[in-house]
Amino acid sequence: MPGADPMRGKAVIEKAACAACHAIPGIKWPQGELGPSLDGFADQGMIAGRFSNRPDLLVRYIRNAPSMTPGTAMPAMPISEGEARDAAAYLYTLHDR
Ligand code: HEC
Repeated sequence: MPGADPMRGKAVIEKAACAACHAIPGIKWPQGELGPSLDGFADQGMIAGRFSNRPDLLVRYIRNAPSMTPGTAMPAMPISEGEARDAAAYLYTLHDR
């Protein structure tokens, strides 16, 4: 993703406490289980089983999942577009092992 920085994204993910609901490799946090594990996310074909796993859709989803999937338990996150791009870049480093 041009202009996006996975290492900055890691810090965004920590600050936004995404791991309160998601197991995310590399993030030391409670590793909550309300949301799906994001391990191997880069190799997943779909986002939330509905949208093709493309950077633009992922950035939109991370910032405001309820606008795309009304009623979802994934909340809108109070982060900027740039922060969401960085966070997405980090998620795209998570390949299946
Ligand atoms: C309050 C709990 C919660 C928080 C906080 C949260 N999520 Fe989620 N997330 C969910 C749930 C629940 C889903 C499943 C949504 C669905 O399928 O409708 C989800 C789905 C996702 C997905 C799609 C996963 C897949 O397998 O397709 C991604 C990517 C994601 N979240 C990233 C993030 C990021 C990045 C953050 C932090 C900026 C975050 N989430 C914060 C609960 C949360």
